Amino acid sequence: MQIAIIGSGYVGLVTGACFAEFGYHVTCVDKDGDKIERLRKGIIPIYEPGLESLVQQTQRVERLSFTTDLKEAVAKADAVFIAVGTPSRRGDGHADLSYVYAAAEEIAGALEGYTVVVTKSTVPVGTCRKVAEIIRQSLQAAQSKAEFDVASNPEFLREGSAINDFMRPDRVVIGTETDAAGHDRARAVLQQLYRPLYLIETPLVFTGIETAELIKYAANGFLAMKIAFINEMADICEQVGANIQDLAKAIGLDGRIGRKFLHAGPGYGGSCFPKDTLALARTAQERGAPTSIVESVIKSNDDRKQGMAQKVLQALKAVTGTRKTLAVLGLTFKPNTDDMRDAPSLTIIPALQEAGIAIQAYDPVGRREAEKFLNNITWAKSAYEAMQGADAVLILTEWNEFRALDFRKMMGYLTYPLLIDMRNIYRLEEMVAAGFDYVSIGRPTLYGAQLASQQATSIA
Ligand code: UDX
Repeated sequence: MQIAIIGSGYVGLVTGACFAEFGYHVTCVDKDGDKIERLRKGIIPIYEPGLESLVQQTQRVERLSFTTDLKEAVAKADAVFIAVGTPSRRGDGHADLSYVYAAAEEIAGALEGYTVVVTKSTVPVGTCRKVAEIIRQSLQAAQSKAEFDVASNPEFLREGSAINDFMRPDRVVIGTETDAAGHDRARAVLQQLYRPLYLIETPLVFTGIETAELIKYAANGFLAMKIAFINEMADICEQVGANIQDLAKAIGLDGRIGRKFLHAGPGYGGSCFPKDTLALARTAQERGAPTSIVESVIKSNDDRKQGMAQKVLQALKAVTGTRKTLAVLGLTFKPNTDDMRDAPSLTIIPALQEAGIAIQAYDPVGRREAEKFLNNITWAKSAYEAMQGADAVLILTEWNEFRALDFRKMMGYLTYPLLIDMRNIYRLEEMVAAGFDYVSIGRPTLYGAQLASQQATSIA
């Protein structure tokens, strides 16, 4: 089986490398010649654990190759995956499909024999049919004898664990269509392609094309809703003196709700949830079935990021002095990625700077990306370097290396022992013992430092 992947970005690379690992011959195509050159040398443009070694290894055994020559890759392929970017269009929140349609046009000019053209990029309902129409018209105009079917095969890859998500998914969704004669050749090809997963009993869900397209948005919309919900519950917890972690655990044990995606935090970010919820809300409006729930989720999450800056400013009132300095640990939208897209840090840090707070920041891998969006930051090479001379610490992203900070060392560096933990990675008891003022999400604020200074005064 020969596969061509159009677009060697995040989704294209992971898909290509994993199919090559399954044993197929995969050619990844991209217009960016420099990128292709670097990929041939095994240099990956993104940070994704395990991807670089998989790309190098599958290239070495000659099952994965890279090219700028779309024509050659498509001509010999049994299946062509469109994995180009679909960014949010400026202004209206719609997914920008120009790259998808341009890819369809080019693919049409290169098809030979029978090929399944699969949309892998997250695309609004109706896009796959439009792709089919573009290809059909182009083949007709060229009087080509090539045959094709389209299919929708959305990805559910999480950054930071994308290889595992591809190799051991909860399910694979395949949207195809039966032709007038009752045949579904695309389904047969994709069933064959995903056979290695079928063998480990992964459910393959076969649906119509529109359903498959909508499943992706519905899944991301639902997950975003879970996060927005638990974040609002966290706010209520803070007001009534309840604990969000106990609450999330208890509701999550109800099998109908489920335990995952109930971690309260500073709001969701990343390349999918913000973009996909916007696109879903717009599609729903346009098709006359507006979704007030998804619209509320979007607003709730936007408001949350703003609200988090206010929470930090409130906590910093404990610190005296006119020019306050904050050590910020973690800038990426989540750990194990260098992705800064829609990261809460991009809203929170500028709002703090606006209020006159100086920022000393550290992120294990995100600095290069973060520098493109954030200004006037003093960059540190470690968490402790960021704390030197700072008045307080803010944890924004739960990288593993922030999970076991040395409290004594921190006390030595900070002018005031205040830890604001927006990922709830520390236990309340340990923070009381450590003598910090500790502000977290949806849990009681602890005044360990204030307590210690009161005790010291009363002993004196
Ligand atoms: C997501 C989906 O999980 C994936 O299936 C889809 O294909 C792409 O979008 P990703 O954006 O990589 O993946 O990250 P994910 O781990 O889902 O986290 C998204 C955001 O939600 C992050 O900002 C994260 O911090 C936040 N989040 C997640 C929470 O705040 N609480 C949670 O309980 C879970």
